[in-house]
Amino acid sequence: MVTGGAGFIGSHLVRLLVKKYPGTLIVNFDKLTYAGNLANLTDIEASPNYRFIKGDIVDEEFVMSTFETHRFDGVIHLAAESHVDRSIVSPKEFIMTNIVGTVNLLNAARHYWNGHYEGKRFYHVSTDEVYGSLGDEGKFLETTPYDPRSPYSASKASSDHLVRAYYHTYGLPVVISNCSNNYGPNQFPEKLIPLIINNIRHRKSLPVYGKGLNVRDWLYVEDHARAIDLIYQKGKDGQTYNIGGNNERQNIDIVRTLCRIMDRKLGRGEGESEKLITYVTDRAGHDFRYAIDSSRLQNELNWRPEVKFDEGFEKTVDWYLDNQKWLDEVTSGDYLKYYEKMYQGR
Ligand code: NAD
Ligand code: TYD
Repeated sequence: MVTGGAGFIGSHLVRLLVKKYPGTLIVNFDKLTYAGNLANLTDIEASPNYRFIKGDIVDEEFVMSTFETHRFDGVIHLAAESHVDRSIVSPKEFIMTNIVGTVNLLNAARHYWNGHYEGKRFYHVSTDEVYGSLGDEGKFLETTPYDPRSPYSASKASSDHLVRAYYHTYGLPVVISNCSNNYGPNQFPEKLIPLIINNIRHRKSLPVYGKGLNVRDWLYVEDHARAIDLIYQKGKDGQTYNIGGNNERQNIDIVRTLCRIMDRKLGRGEGESEKLITYVTDRAGHDFRYAIDSSRLQNELNWRPEVKFDEGFEKTVDWYLDNQKWLDEVTSGDYLKYYEKMYQGR
């Protein structure tokens, strides 16, 4: 069971798993909120080892009955409300999905596995934002104390604690990873990189929060999906693994780089898109810097990011330019009709 498989990271993970493990049934359980888009998975939706179930992890009864039907051996849990700005406007949905939803899944796994944990695994996908905000120096380690500062990161931190509690209290075979900011194809254009690409395309203003000096550590989404697969297969029960790209960039550098690449690709004059940069009021409680130390994952499981930042960035811009229909449907809301069209009566 992959929860949140129609979202940005989940869809890349589902594709990887469906292709890599043809003998394993991969069930994508997703509510299809505004962030879930089945058009992300059209290339694999007809695969014999893939099923989609539309469901809400907050709906305890439905989660239980889905476990009853499918008797999953493993859960990779990505479903979440994931956007910090939305969490500032309406925290409660974050509490429901990210905390209550996670507990429902933990309870279902505990109930159906019933102490028979051989070959079972509950993998919780989390974020580096649980560790709080760094100054100019240092990196997050797995042992860094939690210090979440937004409703989003507080809800993810809470779910991480609960997952660990189920390991210690009930022996549930859990594993957790905390990853830095992802970028790549299929990301909903409310997040920095696809939002800026889309706005450059339409010559709309490019909103940079505060002075644009905040730092994020960027990882190409397929490298995250590969790390999740590896940790799911080889990680130790009860362990936490940090995942990061070692690519720290200030937001303003990200925006300027996108402007340069897009001007070149769209045949616009040099510096044309940079004129669209607009400094706007800073995000409330804006974390200054995130940076991940992923040496545990590198040393213990021999993971390395495969996609270099410059290469990943070019690939990402190319994907959004080659898939403008996807962007248009997402920004107009047309993608919401996709489920009705494709899954009516199934
Ligand atoms: P996303 O917002 O693109 O996708 C979330 C998916 O979860 C969507 O398909 C949505 O429909 C589904 N969903 C939401 N609420 C649900 C519910 N109640 N029941 C069932 N499905 C529901 O998110 P993403 O960026 O792909 O992130 C996936 C996971 O990875 C999240 O848990 C997030 O915290 C974590 N993460 C994300 C990043 C990042 O940079 N995007 C970095 C580290 C960790
Ligand atoms: P975001 O993509 O929302 O990810 P997160 O907040 O989870 O790191 O934002 C990345 C950074 O970009 C963050 O420091 C906020 C900033 N930002 C802007 O400056 N302008 C924007 O329009 C957005 C969406 C984000």
